[in-house]
Amino acid sequence: MATATIPATDPLNWQSDGRAVPEVVKGNTYLIGGEIREWSGQTNEVQSCLFFDWNGGIVRPKLGHAPVLDANEALDALKAAKSAWNNGQGKWPSMTVPARIEAVEGFVARMKAVRETVVELIMWEIGKNLPDAQKEFDRTVQYIEDTIQALKDLDRRNSGFSVEKGFLAQIRRSPFGPTLCMGPYNYPLNETFTTLLPAIIMGNPVISKLPRFGQLLNTPLLEAFRDSFPAGVVNIINGRGNEIIPPILQEGGIELLAFIGSSKTADQLKTYHPKPHRLKSILSLDAKNLAVVLPDADMKVTIPQLIAGTLGFNGQRCTALKILFVHKSRVDEVIEELSKAVDALPAGLPWRPGVMLTPLADLKAATWLRSLIDEATSMGAKVMNPGGGEVIENFMKPAIVYPVTPEMQLHEVEQFGPIIPIRAYEDISEVMEYATATQFGQQVSLFGYDPKVMGPLIDAMVNQVSRVNLNVQCQRGPDTFPFTGRKASAEGTLSVSDALKRFSIRTLVATDYSEANRDLVNSILAARSSNFLTTDFLF
Ligand code: G3H
Repeated sequence: MATATIPATDPLNWQSDGRAVPEVVKGNTYLIGGEIREWSGQTNEVQSCLFFDWNGGIVRPKLGHAPVLDANEALDALKAAKSAWNNGQGKWPSMTVPARIEAVEGFVARMKAVRETVVELIMWEIGKNLPDAQKEFDRTVQYIEDTIQALKDLDRRNSGFSVEKGFLAQIRRSPFGPTLCMGPYNYPLNETFTTLLPAIIMGNPVISKLPRFGQLLNTPLLEAFRDSFPAGVVNIINGRGNEIIPPILQEGGIELLAFIGSSKTADQLKTYHPKPHRLKSILSLDAKNLAVVLPDADMKVTIPQLIAGTLGFNGQRCTALKILFVHKSRVDEVIEELSKAVDALPAGLPWRPGVMLTPLADLKAATWLRSLIDEATSMGAKVMNPGGGEVIENFMKPAIVYPVTPEMQLHEVEQFGPIIPIRAYEDISEVMEYATATQFGQQVSLFGYDPKVMGPLIDAMVNQVSRVNLNVQCQRGPDTFPFTGRKASAEGTLSVSDALKRFSIRTLVATDYSEANRDLVNSILAARSSNFLTTDFLF
């Protein structure tokens, strides 16, 4: 790749690009107890992951500051969430479902108004290209709207009574209590909301700790959060995870932990809680999704899917294809086609039309990725595409690495970046051996059309992973589909409707069918003296 195709323009060209650096975000703000606070302690300067050549030097625009809160402030967020919960008697957890839905609708209207600012910051902070940044925002809005619909459906189904073996019961869902949510930097908006939103709409007060990168883009939403929900229902904090999260969990008041990130961190987090059995967890963790290219795969379909699957957002997706098993009869062809396709991928600034490859969000990632390639090549693999693995600052040209063998780290670890490790196989048993032995179990993509091969392979794979994709890349969406994983890849399922269930517990009011008790229930319903025990139908 010629250096010129990599972000290499001087600051004057930012304007001619039609794109000015966003105004510096006064990002040393955060939200606790219904109050947007300004942090007077340590802050982190947030630099763009995008870089520019200027007079032979590299410049990175400064985007703002993010607070580095301390343990005391983190505990204040917990205090605020506990006070909003008020032992389950708080305004929010006792509110009717329609009232909670109304608050969320108010929030989403305010959210839509800041779309442009948030999309811009997604590009500047983490380097996601414009169509994907817009998609992240729009998908999040859609997720919220779908969640509202799903809750209405759920509530309608639960608005009646069950009469069973002499008992009368109304079975609904109730919140658990203070919830800690932590999303990842690759979807700093969407995956913050896919746990925060179902948690609050079900009545749980939340502390949301923002990810390492992509903090400023949440700043434009703070006022909407403050104004849409009672104080303490949504608390947004920033800081170093290892300093502010342990005290929150050690206090023991968190009932639910929703975490999207590494399994190593998840293991550590659980140990902080004084009563680990009491802490309910919803986890979306590491993955090493494999693609299997069968002898009869159609390359016109397979190659574009492999490119999107391995290199969408430069491979920084938990669902990315992270190792390809290619039948030895097709391996040369796959490498040649992939190599051509990689070479044709436009690289550069994320808003330029058609750009797919951009600098990596984590400025240190390229060094680690390079070490994985170097280890593999020292053990007999080759980089098969011209310029593959070349690093300029935090940009890395995708590397197709072959043959990858079990001794290499690339065979086992989740690279989370633009490396395409390929292993050739002769017999499908080699693929199954890998899929069975690996600690990961999120998804697989199978490419081929022979039903006699596909049928049994699907049957074998469904007990190793939680989603088998046929002739398409691995992915989370549509968000109404269940998203989960086996083994070390997840705990719990997060579709729009599954999430509502994960963030609440089935709770019932039951009595025997005596006349006195029927009269009591009828009187409560007629007087509308309970928010829980009601037959109101949600239109
Ligand atoms: O990073 C993990 C995301 O949940 C993946 O979502 O498949 O829509 O990119 P995606």
